[in-house]
Amino acid sequence: MVLPIIPYPNKVKFTNDTVHAAALKTDKVDIDTALPREGYRLTIAKEGVSIAAGDEAGAFYAQQSLRQLRDGGGDVPCCIIDDAPRFPFRSYMLDVARHMFPIEDIKKHVDAIALMKMNRFHIHLTDDQGWRVPIAKYPKVAEMKRQETKFGSLRNPTYKGDNEPYGGYYTVEELKDLVDYCAKRHITVIPEFDIPGHTNCAIAAYSHLSCRNEQIQPRNREGVSKVILCVGKDEVMEFVYDCLEVFCDIFPGEYFHIGGDEAPKSRWKSCPHCQKRMKDNSLENEQQLQGWFNKQVAAFLAQRGKKTIVWNEGLYSGQMGNEVIGQRWFDPGFYAIRFANSGGKIIMSDNSSCYVDYLYSRLPLKKVYRYNPLKFGLNKRGKAGVMGLEAPLWTEYVKDIERASFQAFPRICATAELGWTAPSLGRKTPRPYSDFVARLRDFIPQLQALGVNSAPESIWNGSGRVNKLRTFPAVPRGADFLEDN
Ligand code: ACM
Ligand code: ZN
Repeated sequence: MVLPIIPYPNKVKFTNDTVHAAALKTDKVDIDTALPREGYRLTIAKEGVSIAAGDEAGAFYAQQSLRQLRDGGGDVPCCIIDDAPRFPFRSYMLDVARHMFPIEDIKKHVDAIALMKMNRFHIHLTDDQGWRVPIAKYPKVAEMKRQETKFGSLRNPTYKGDNEPYGGYYTVEELKDLVDYCAKRHITVIPEFDIPGHTNCAIAAYSHLSCRNEQIQPRNREGVSKVILCVGKDEVMEFVYDCLEVFCDIFPGEYFHIGGDEAPKSRWKSCPHCQKRMKDNSLENEQQLQGWFNKQVAAFLAQRGKKTIVWNEGLYSGQMGNEVIGQRWFDPGFYAIRFANSGGKIIMSDNSSCYVDYLYSRLPLKKVYRYNPLKFGLNKRGKAGVMGLEAPLWTEYVKDIERASFQAFPRICATAELGWTAPSLGRKTPRPYSDFVARLRDFIPQLQALGVNSAPESIWNGSGRVNKLRTFPAVPRGADFLEDN
């Protein structure tokens, strides 16, 4: 017997009876601190339903299981569910810098991830192409518009522009409202202020933020720019701290993501300010300069009670300690793995298994479900350092919530299950893939009821029809292409 619940509960004991779904209600929840954090026991019997939970989050997750059973309809087997998450960190990332989405639309995705017991929402707020948080002291950054958006592919130099200026930002009130909305669903919002790379929008507003005071525009297409923040200038550090202060005021959660990915070092190599900073701090190379920068920012955030997260490039200095958490996405040097093996904490989000902006043909649902975040040469200590996993949705080619839903769902349902449900001994996936898909079919109407439209089953494992459904080419992204701007 299988319960129609995603993610599947870790332990279910069936008790030879059934109740009708409509009768599944409970008013009574006991908090029992002997149960694990985020854990719960849900007892479904003819006489009624009862919940005991390790904490408020556990009680909320018991309700999500119950809700899925109720909304699934029909007869539900009586059972005792003893459940608690495999990982404490279960996350979805939305890039609102490349394209932004109305807060009301974002809330639909929040509702969906809450139903799947995810507990982090990582919001990528700043990038080369846009900046979505108003900063009173630097009003121009959020006012910037890119001149148009170019669609194409780094592997195919034919980009087509749409001739439409694009910009905008959220108000502080909107962002705080989103934070409250998430908190009510036991979801911590993790803001990302991506520094020192991916900062063309800020530099377009204030050219002195770059090494050479370059006059540039916000980037109009995907890719990686060589123009990055000059961390040798004190006024750039002041800008960074001023922005961090604003972000910290809006986002009260315990984590803060400072990006750190794709920051080419060519400008730093020939910049007198950066070279002086290196000399003054006895730094041997530009990777170490990024390490120094990370440490300054992490110390600033630690004073405000925050833990700092960096993408794996933020570990390349080889000098990072427990002041940061590493997030693995594309890490051929296995820096994140080595970091964990020597005692660091990491989040797993390998692009090849977790990036839901990829075509379904490039990242089929089956492949997402088969992702094993505890492989890659992690030793015992390294495995213990894996806090959990994340599915990021980058939006260079995603301009509305419909497309975002299409990309994310149902693939992030697989991520949610990987984060919650431990594979039993000898199994590589939490449950057999066919079992997951059968539950998914029942679950999709529940997502629809939240306003979230999944991709059709015919393309989950890549039929190639995806491009016909939207005019945007959802092209492969590459990490290895550097451009002047
Ligand atoms: C990334 O995809 N640049 C983190
Ligand atoms: Zn510089």
